[in-house]
Amino acid sequence: MMSKKPLVRDDLNILKGYHSPQLDVPVKLNTNESPFSLPDGFLEELSSALEKLDLNRYPKRDANELCLSIAERESLNEKQVFAANGSNEIIQSIFLAFGGHNRSVLIFEPTYAMHSQIAKITGTRVVSGLREIDFQVNADAALRLIDKEKPEIVFLCSPNNPTGNLESEALIKSILAKLNDSGGLLVLDEAYKEFANQSLSLTVDEGSNLIFLRTFSKVWKLAGIRLGYLLAPEWCIDEIKNVSLPYHLDSIKQKAGVLALKHENEMLAQLENVKEEKNRVYENLLDFSVNVWPSEANFLLFKPNEIDGYKLWSDLFEKGVLVRDCSSWEGLEGCLRVTIGNPEENTRFLEALQEILNNG
Ligand SMILES: Cc1ncc(COP(=O)(O)O)c(C=O)c1O
Repeated sequence: MMSKKPLVRDDLNILKGYHSPQLDVPVKLNTNESPFSLPDGFLEELSSALEKLDLNRYPKRDANELCLSIAERESLNEKQVFAANGSNEIIQSIFLAFGGHNRSVLIFEPTYAMHSQIAKITGTRVVSGLREIDFQVNADAALRLIDKEKPEIVFLCSPNNPTGNLESEALIKSILAKLNDSGGLLVLDEAYKEFANQSLSLTVDEGSNLIFLRTFSKVWKLAGIRLGYLLAPEWCIDEIKNVSLPYHLDSIKQKAGVLALKHENEMLAQLENVKEEKNRVYENLLDFSVNVWPSEANFLLFKPNEIDGYKLWSDLFEKGVLVRDCSSWEGLEGCLRVTIGNPEENTRFLEALQEILNNG
C-alpha cells in the first residue's frame, strides 16, 4: 500500500523553482559560463595534488589555505573571507543568518532570480523594488522603500544579471549609509565583476555593513567545481560560519581554488577576448531588428522587435543555439539573454539569428 505523502511547507508550494534547462545542443549560451577549457598548467598541478590529498579525512573546516589565498589577492585578512559551494550557497547562508521568519529582504527586479528564490526558501519576505528605464535603481525611491519596509537585508547586483548594467557607486553609498544607521546588511553580488570596465572604490570595512559576493564559476572557468566566496567584516563571517554545515567545502575544491589563484594569469587569459567578442556581438545585434542593452558582463540582453521572444528562443534552439529565455519575467517581457561564447559560437548565434529574422 502507498504511504500517505508528507506535505511540504505551505509557503514552498508557490515556488516554481529556477532552472535554466540543460539541453544538449551544439552552442550553449544560456548560463554565462566560460566557453574555454582550463589551462594545462592548472590541470596538471590539480591532478598531482589530488593524489596527495587525504580523502579519508574530513577537509579543513575553515578552508584556511584557500581563504588566505583569496585574502592575499584582495588585500584583506583571511578572517574576512568565507568560501562555499558556489555563491548560491553563500546567498543561502546570508538568509539563514540574517533573514528568515518575520524578516525581509529588498531586491530590485529584474535581477538574478536566485536572490528572491533563496529568500523565499528560507522564509524571508521579499520586498521588490523596480528598476527604472535602462534598469537603473533610483536612489531616492530605494531609500523611501527602505524607510517604509525596514528590510534587514538589501541585495544589489553589479554587473546586474540579466540586464548587464553596473549599480552606481553613488547608489551603493547612499543605500549603505542608510543601512549602516538602521543595522541592515547590504549584499553586493559581483559574480561578473571581472568583465566590467570600471571597479568600485569600496571594500570590506569592519565598521560597515557592506559585503561582497564573488564566484569561481564565470571568468575563472570553474562552474563545474562549485566554488564561490564572500568578502565581509569578521563579525559577519562569524555569523555565516554559525549557520554553515561542518566541513561544507570538500578538500578537492579547496585545492582547486588555491591552484586557480596561483595560475591566475592563465585562468583569466581569455578575459580580453570575451570583452572584444561581446563588443562584436553587440555591434552586430545593432544591425538586426532587436533592442540590445549595453553590458558590463559576459552576456547581452536583447529583445526582438518583430517577433515574439519565446518564438525566437525556440527558433534558435531548433538551430542548435541555446540562449536564456527571460521573455516571461516581470520587467523583461519579450527579452532573451545570450552568453558570450567562443568566437565560433558567437558567429553561429549571429548567423542563426540572421536566418530566423530574415525569414520571419
Ligand atoms: C548574479 C549571480 N550571482 C550568483 C550566481 C551563482 O553563481 P555560483 O555558480 O557561484 O553559485 C550567478 C550564476 O549565474 C549569478 O548570475
